Amino acid sequence: MRVIILPDAEAVARRAARFVVDLMAKKPACVLGLATGSTPLGAYRELIRQHRESGLDFSHVTTFNLDEYVGLGPSHPQSYRQFMQTNFFDQINVDVNRTHVPDGRALNFEHSCRLYEQRIAEAGGIDLQILGIGTDGHIAFNEPGSSLGSRTRLKTLTSETIRDNARFFGSEEDVPRLAITMGVGTILESRCCLLMAIGESKATAIRDTVEGPITAQVTASALQLHREVIVVVDEAAANLLARKDYYAEVEQAQTLLEAGDFRALGIGKHA
Ligand code: F6R
Repeated sequence: MRVIILPDAEAVARRAARFVVDLMAKKPACVLGLATGSTPLGAYRELIRQHRESGLDFSHVTTFNLDEYVGLGPSHPQSYRQFMQTNFFDQINVDVNRTHVPDGRALNFEHSCRLYEQRIAEAGGIDLQILGIGTDGHIAFNEPGSSLGSRTRLKTLTSETIRDNARFFGSEEDVPRLAITMGVGTILESRCCLLMAIGESKATAIRDTVEGPITAQVTASALQLHREVIVVVDEAAANLLARKDYYAEVEQAQTLLEAGDFRALGIGKHA
């Protein structure tokens, strides 16, 4: 795992957006996996800014969102489809037909979940999956105890997640109990995962994800098995990491390598 610790939420947003922009430069018809919630909002705002000011072009991009509440139609103000339209899609030039969010109204869950997986496969798989993390260590809505090989399916939300998400609904009673979510196995098939976290409330989950054992009790810990994971966090979310200094040294070495400054890395000294 590559762990990038930055001073604040603003820097996390800019860094995460940079990974997306770099991918789009290399592959304009890339497939992005997207998350909702408060964490990626700053990155979406940065991408919107670059679209407006520098013409960042989303016209060939395909997107797949991680999850959707069951029972909420696409125009419900709290549906994740609506969230994505308002906070991202309506403000860039993405073709809405290329944007995918699981169908919260489908009652034939098994069929619609299988179809979602099929669509991802038909698009060639996800190039870069953006992830937030729950305070209980969930990615997408893969709550503690979810199989680490799980696929897109129906999931019952924990009381912790319902409590965390009540802020968007006004009360806990209004938060749906069920969601359709990509599985941990689905997420692990993405070519690259970009996990973002901001704030002290995520510090335990980030410590358990990066430095804890791989366990279904912290589904984000399964990312340790993935060969290309980037964790971008602010100081507050990184607060409980034991190997913070080492992660900073790795980033410093990476920067010098990218700049071609081999001398500063001591390369050639012994030749
Ligand atoms: C959202 C999602 C969730 C959130 C997580 C953190 O699509 O899949 O896993 O990323 O619950 O939410 P925030 O960012 O609101 O703290």
